[in-house]
Amino acid sequence: MENFFKLVSKRESCRKFNGRPVNREDLLKCVEAARLAPSACNSQPWKFIIVDDQGLKNELCRAAFSAPYTASWPEKAGAILVVISERGSFTARVGNFVRDTRYYLVDIGIAVEHFILQAAELGLGTCWMGWFNEKGVKQVLGLPAASKVDIIVPVGYAENKEPRKKIRKSITEICAFNKYQ
Ligand SMILES: Cc1cc2nc3c(=O)[nH]c(=O)nc-3n(C[C@H](O)[C@H](O)[C@H](O)COP(=O)(O)O)c2cc1C
Repeated sequence: MENFFKLVSKRESCRKFNGRPVNREDLLKCVEAARLAPSACNSQPWKFIIVDDQGLKNELCRAAFSAPYTASWPEKAGAILVVISERGSFTARVGNFVRDTRYYLVDIGIAVEHFILQAAELGLGTCWMGWFNEKGVKQVLGLPAASKVDIIVPVGYAENKEPRKKIRKSITEICAFNKYQ
């Protein structure tokens, strides 16, 4: 428990990588952590592509972070995780329709955070990224036009720096016992 709390406290978005490659064993360990994530109706509505080929990674970054999505730092990550959302099982989709809740996005969120926490445990920096040129990513990776890429995550070794202070709402702002406030 203590260790888990340390891990979540340690994780922070990394936007400065040192260019060092990440070995596949570590990347696959992160994928394994994601694979074990729970999902609505156990539908596991995800596919992961890890881009660690230097040339392809650069091409992907250029396409993903072209204006107005401009960011140059992801190119220095050792790999880029591309998360493809699948539509989920029939039951999960019925649930989505009835409840108007996109369970597949909840599922993706859990799985990707598993990946990210495992990465943090291995000493790897990551950053959730939802602001990128999806069409460009799909073109570079040859994904079907109808596929959905909601999140990409650069993964790599951070340039040495002090941990940032976490800016968060206080517990009393976000939580109450037995009532809404
Ligand atoms: C769904 C999601 C999308 C995000 N998209 C981006 C993004 O496109 N670019 C970026 O630099 N950071 C992005 N972030 C990172 C957040 O800005 C960051 O998590 C937040 O400011 C808290 O900082 P911390 O991660 O260092 O604790 C995203 C985070 C999440 C969860």
